[in-house]
Amino acid sequence: MRHLLAIGDLERADIERIMERAEGFAEVGRRDIKKVPTLRGRTIVNLFYESSTRTSSSFELAAKRLSADVVSVKAVGSSVDKGESLKDTIATLGAYGPEAIVIRSPHAGAADLVARWSDAAVINAGDGKHEHPSQALLDVYTLRRRLGSLAGKRIWIVGDVLHSRVARSNVLAFRMMGANVTVCGPPTLIPRGIERALGCAVSYELDGLEEADVVYALRMQRERMRESFVPSIREYAAKYQIDSRRLGPRQLLMHPGPVNRGVELSGEVIDGPNSLITEQVESGLVVRMAILYELLTGGRPRAGERAGDSDAATDPTPIKEPA
Ligand code: CP
Repeated sequence: MRHLLAIGDLERADIERIMERAEGFAEVGRRDIKKVPTLRGRTIVNLFYESSTRTSSSFELAAKRLSADVVSVKAVGSSVDKGESLKDTIATLGAYGPEAIVIRSPHAGAADLVARWSDAAVINAGDGKHEHPSQALLDVYTLRRRLGSLAGKRIWIVGDVLHSRVARSNVLAFRMMGANVTVCGPPTLIPRGIERALGCAVSYELDGLEEADVVYALRMQRERMRESFVPSIREYAAKYQIDSRRLGPRQLLMHPGPVNRGVELSGEVIDGPNSLITEQVESGLVVRMAILYELLTGGRPRAGERAGDSDAATDPTPIKEPA
């Protein structure tokens, strides 16, 4: 893998390899010293043109746990505020010779452009309504830990599918891993032709939700709405909110975050026993470590790392604390 731009660029074997590597990094995370020297001397730039808590913090921590040097730039407070273009920003940060650039942008296709302008490996951390591939990978990882396999599992993705890059990436990834996916929401929030484009089923009602093994709720992305897509948030919640009446005891609940409490999910299910939301955040760290490892080492340990160790990245000598 040269870049991680879209789930559609991956083969199932790529996903399997990242999952296995992430499991190794989860083991590192249980050690006293959670840092390994795998990417020592490498530079990673995190460039976020849109708000983020989970993705930005986990990519930064993932890079630090792998001993890379990290530069984090947010649009607010940077020269982007002064009108610097994306291309000039990439040229400027490229002067530091980064091996990887993690980019989030409100514009679909921004990560592809950066991949053309830079020699670095590029990771799409969310580009407009297009894709959020690292979210899909961490969600697959979370479900594999719970279910073992996604084969034959029924996953319903409920909510604002139209504005969701997570929905697009996750439908593709869940299907690649053998799950049956249904997207559900008001007709105004389901893209036309999504059945044929992504190979999922569509439902405009929650009738039938009881068949789902996993209910994956999406946030109403009001910041991307330039017109009114539902009569009111109250009516939307009455018809589509996942609450304890609608979520069965055996069903797993997921959400990419951030959650609008009381809109797409009720407080009791967010904090209830079926919720995997915190596990998703935990998975984000180890899966993003695995993605950085995959892109920056080609899945191979670097020369000089633990000769004879077939799994040097996930079982390297931990960083020694200074004397
Ligand atoms: N799920 C997700 O991308 O969250 P953030 O916007 O907080 O990064």
